Amino acid sequence: MAKIKTLYFCQNCGAQSVKWIGRCPSCGEWNTYVEEVVQKEDTKVAGSWKPPTAAPTLSKVAKPRPVSEIHYEEEARIATQDGELNRVLGGGIVPGSLVLIGGEPGIGKSTLMLQIAMSLRRLKVLYVSGEESEQQIKMRAERLGDQHPGCYILTETNTQNIFKQIDQLQPNILIIDSIQTLHSGLVESGAGSVSQVRECTAELLKYAKETGVPVMLIGHITKDGSIAGPKILEHMVDTVLQFEGDRHLSYRILRTTKNRFGSTSELGIYEMQGAGLRQVSNPSEILLSQRHGEELSGMAIGATLEGNRPLLVEVQALVTPATYGTPQRSATGFDSKRLQMLLAVLEKRSGLRLGQHDVFLNIAGGLRLDDPALDLAVCAAVVSSLNDIPIRGEVCLAAEVGLSGEIRAVSRLDQRLGEAEKLGFAEMYISQFNARGLDLARYGIRVQPAGRLDEVLSGLF
Ligand code: TYD
Ligand code: MG
Repeated sequence: MAKIKTLYFCQNCGAQSVKWIGRCPSCGEWNTYVEEVVQKEDTKVAGSWKPPTAAPTLSKVAKPRPVSEIHYEEEARIATQDGELNRVLGGGIVPGSLVLIGGEPGIGKSTLMLQIAMSLRRLKVLYVSGEESEQQIKMRAERLGDQHPGCYILTETNTQNIFKQIDQLQPNILIIDSIQTLHSGLVESGAGSVSQVRECTAELLKYAKETGVPVMLIGHITKDGSIAGPKILEHMVDTVLQFEGDRHLSYRILRTTKNRFGSTSELGIYEMQGAGLRQVSNPSEILLSQRHGEELSGMAIGATLEGNRPLLVEVQALVTPATYGTPQRSATGFDSKRLQMLLAVLEKRSGLRLGQHDVFLNIAGGLRLDDPALDLAVCAAVVSSLNDIPIRGEVCLAAEVGLSGEIRAVSRLDQRLGEAEKLGFAEMYISQFNARGLDLARYGIRVQPAGRLDEVLSGLF
């Protein structure tokens, strides 16, 4: 038996030290060092993932290869039934990748992963849970509907035991719920501690890279919104997904914050229902669905892009005379500095008296957006509320507004036009620079090109 050894670990960044330190030299945080027992067991007795000798996939010995000889097909992805997840991952699950999915308790991480496990009909899936019993998982699986006979459930938290089962079962995909409940016999501190999380992730990483089996990890989130455990966890994995949303509302958003195999600007939208998560493949419909038949003032529809996906969103503004000395400006889902700028442009270039008014802005549906193409919709909503004149329901807007009140071009206008047309809008205000070189007759929507903010405002009101 090896001698017991302890080390101090920074709970913030995972740095280690042989003695306690008040301030972490690596991340600069104070009072984050905690003593943990680190004991190396005899590696012959229990080890981390050890490849079986006969496995053909493991016979590769890495050698340098010219980049031109490396073939692209090596990264064939596993496309799931879930279009939203595929999009967020950049086209499906990459073999041998380690994906971390984080989110607040109760948001639906386990539901999402079990649903994915159930939908991979052609594959053998191993769902390892350290959080719930087999019966609880079965109950959830029943709520989700059709069951996949190739989906195996294992309630185990010791990584060596998990690898033993993996060795027998040889799954095609592994799901771990959650990384904070795992513990490895190689390190002797409690589950969820920095050294355990790091060791378990390292073992899973080694397994994924050596066998090509993708591993999906569920991770908890701390109060400040970061994934619990050391930052190093996020560095070790290939992809980090965040599952977020208001628990009181049924919509959930899956975002990528890191992706080695695709863009990080993609976004997936789900709705939590009685029988699991439903993909929302046309989010504009839900974002706009709460509009009533009548036209209300202070509302404008902006055509924005989230990643590659066009979205039509409702921008709501409320402009009221200020009751206190300094007027309030508040924005939800939109950058408040940008709102201030647009209000200054409206005041200076269009002569509106906003200095004595409170301005509240809200992007409906709880989304956070930073596409400059929303500028024109924000201006239109503010003016509509100020004058109490509604904007016609068939109108939408997509343009950036510059400091001198000029209307600037936005990217990928054809996609925005296409989406607006699909949703039944009849008219779209855009920049005159966007209109050049665009075959306007192709769209069944009337395009109103404008050069200055005043032109748009006089056209709308
Ligand atoms: P869960 O996946 O357990 O969350 P997490 O793993 O992120 O902690 O989801 C829990 C919530 O989802 C719970 O409040 C119940 C709700 N739910 C539904 O509304 N419909 C369903 O079909 C399922 C399985 C869960
Ligand atoms: Mg869970």
